[in-house]
Amino acid sequence: MLEYLYPIRTYLVIAGTIDKPNPMTADWVVPLSHTPALLGVSIAHKRYTKKLIDEQKDFVVAVPTIELLKDVWIAGTVSGARKDKKDLMSVTFTESKSVKAPSIKECAANLECKVVQDVVTGDHTFYVGEIVDVSYGDAFAGGKPDIGDYRFILHVDGASFTTTGNEIVKP
Ligand SMILES: Cc1cc2nc3c(=O)[nH]c(=O)nc-3n(C[C@H](O)[C@H](O)[C@H](O)COP(=O)(O)O)c2cc1C
Repeated sequence: MLEYLYPIRTYLVIAGTIDKPNPMTADWVVPLSHTPALLGVSIAHKRYTKKLIDEQKDFVVAVPTIELLKDVWIAGTVSGARKDKKDLMSVTFTESKSVKAPSIKECAANLECKVVQDVVTGDHTFYVGEIVDVSYGDAFAGGKPDIGDYRFILHVDGASFTTTGNEIVKP
């Protein structure tokens, strides 16, 4: 029944370390609070990412643009429990500023989170992360998303995605 909420923006949740990074594609990412800055991610119990977040208590939410869709698909269809996704993907992992989980250089922004709460929600665990640091590139240089030059990813269904356009609509 959750299909009625789509299209939904698609992100990468990165767990692990710079030496052993594990990126996972995630639609279920939600802003929760300005002060403190809190961000929630919902991770199925069977994901390798869950094991890594439980061990290390941090993660990074990276914001990909449509050029990264092939890598986003790999991160969302291959489990780090079986394969090292770093070898399959063409992105560059970089040290984050304040957490052990690495960032992705090619992403428009990287939000570094420390887990402050985790709640079992059915077949997923909802991790509440405090955003302790952020890095971003030109897509956010003006203090807001540059939707003219950067196209963000939205998930429609299965292997179908769409992207943002540059039309601004005012209420
Ligand atoms: C577009 C897309 C969105 C996804 N969103 C989520 C999500 O929000 N939560 C989740 O647990 N899995 C989600 N998945 C599935 C995981 O990304 C996928 O099972 C991945 O292979 C898990 O990797 P891991 O085992 O290395 O953690 C999504 C997959 C795709 C393709």
